[in-house]
Amino acid sequence: MTAQLIDGKGIAKTIQAELTQEVAELREKYGLVPGLATVLVGENPASQTYVRMKRKRCAEVGIHTIGPVLPKDATQEEVEALVRELNANPAIHGILVQLPLPSHLHEEAVLNAISLEKDVDGFHPVNIGRLAMKHRTPLFAPCTPSGIIELLDRTGVSIEGQEAVVLGRSNIVGLPVSMLLLKRNATVTICHSRTRDLPAITRRADILVAAVGRAEMVKADWVKPGAVVIDVGINRVDDPTRKRGYRLVGDVDFAEVQEVAGWITPVPGGVGPMTIAMLLRNTIIGAKRAAGIEGGRIES
Ligand code: GUN
Repeated sequence: MTAQLIDGKGIAKTIQAELTQEVAELREKYGLVPGLATVLVGENPASQTYVRMKRKRCAEVGIHTIGPVLPKDATQEEVEALVRELNANPAIHGILVQLPLPSHLHEEAVLNAISLEKDVDGFHPVNIGRLAMKHRTPLFAPCTPSGIIELLDRTGVSIEGQEAVVLGRSNIVGLPVSMLLLKRNATVTICHSRTRDLPAITRRADILVAAVGRAEMVKADWVKPGAVVIDVGINRVDDPTRKRGYRLVGDVDFAEVQEVAGWITPVPGGVGPMTIAMLLRNTIIGAKRAAGIEGGRIES
């Protein structure tokens, strides 16, 4: 059996086209231009690339962006002062502080400072708390986890009642995607570095989400035949045959696992593009909510 590919890049393009249309309508009908601020502290090359991509996609759909950059030795007070200034800026509907922050900064305090109404990453503890609780809805859900749910929905994979296994418990992906899957009535198991006999647990999964950051860790015999495999990993492995000296692989051994799975996301071109698409969507939701326009809420 060879798995069908879940084309994240194509699905993200479709969503981007839908959002472009929506932004044009907001401008024509209400004179509303959604605005996003991306905050970068320091010179982490991967973070610079991510922020550049995010701003480029925003520009393509008509979302206004500003991209303040602080030096790598910026103080806690300077970062928080910038966040407060952006909180007060009426042209900005979403604030994204690119993580990781330099190690001397207190990440939790910075994320706490972001206005709940502008927390388009969904990382504010109140939004995460609402995500975790029954009968509560966050103002925004984190982008990579929402992108995963959107991929499943648009592929026609049903979530309710399925066994979902999530590898990884990070604040950015593992934990929130588990909570979203739970909200959609999956039976969720979260695995982590202390989990015993991982393959025995992952083999139970109808939906397997791998978000651990270890190159090609998930092997064919970890996967139940026909399972849906979502690979969130983006790992560099040395490859002297490539011009840049490396290639990108996921947390799943794609060549092996595609022979067993029913559906699988590629790396690159799977989950990655969806993260940005959901950021654009969240920014538009924030703008509509600020303007009191119908549709400025997310589905629970
Ligand atoms: N670092 C890695 N992923 C993300 C993300 O989704 N948002 C932010 N702000 N930082 C990240």
